[in-house]
Amino acid sequence: MATPSHIAIIMDGNGRWAKSRGKQRLAGHRAGADAVERVLGYCSDAGVKYLTLYAFSTENWKRPAAEVSGLMKLFSAYLKRKLHLFKKKQVRLRVIGRRGDLSPALQKEIARAERETAGFDRQLLLAVSYGGRAEIADAARRIAEDAKAGRLDPADIDEAAFANYLYAPDVPEPELIIRTSGEMRVSNFLLWECAYSEFYITPVLWPDFDRAEFDKALAAYASRERRLGGVEAAPEGAKK
Ligand code: IPE
Ligand code: IPE
Ligand code: MG
Repeated sequence: MATPSHIAIIMDGNGRWAKSRGKQRLAGHRAGADAVERVLGYCSDAGVKYLTLYAFSTENWKRPAAEVSGLMKLFSAYLKRKLHLFKKKQVRLRVIGRRGDLSPALQKEIARAERETAGFDRQLLLAVSYGGRAEIADAARRIAEDAKAGRLDPADIDEAAFANYLYAPDVPEPELIIRTSGEMRVSNFLLWECAYSEFYITPVLWPDFDRAEFDKALAAYASRERRLGGVEAAPEGAKK
């Protein structure tokens, strides 16, 4: 069975999960953080090398201040508490997004986790203050800077050259994108990278996402015919 090397997940539905239990939204986010740890284990068992998780979008800043600060505290606590686990499980942690939007303390926490796990092969990419449009705009700005400084000839800008300016240019595009909570939209996630991703949407809310759901997503992926614009299924490994 073909297994994706890179899975990306839009972890949605924490608020509804909490509401259905008469709890505060933040309780849903805490339960969502527990789901992250489980899913890391499923990916390791399945041999998935890269996992990207959409944790906080550029649009999520418009949520009530208390929810935003609760989420930021949760990231910070998560990084501090789980760093030893990432090391033990040999997982390289990376954050993609506009990290300059985050507090200096959280930025330091991220830099430390990235530094201390930099040598590992398996990767967890956390998308925080991430927007697909922001990523493309940030890439365009850096390309313009390089062109202005004479480091880049505009005639050389093609898709591959452009992709070198994205947040994690060395990571292959996700073959599979999962969204929980049943929403049929991309909500500004990996706009460039999702060009040929397979999508799997489940009504299950993120805190309830379990191994059975993960296996269903993998089975759905394995059953898809990925033509990548051609006329027959691309041989495995044909797409980077
Ligand atoms: C996803 O859950 C987590 C974040 C966006 C931070 P939501 O908070 O969006 O949960 P719902 O969609 O309101 O249920
Ligand atoms: C997408 O979920 C962002 C994350 C999961 C971090 P949202 O709940 O913010 O998306 P919309 O508002 O339903 O599109
Ligand atoms: Mg949501």
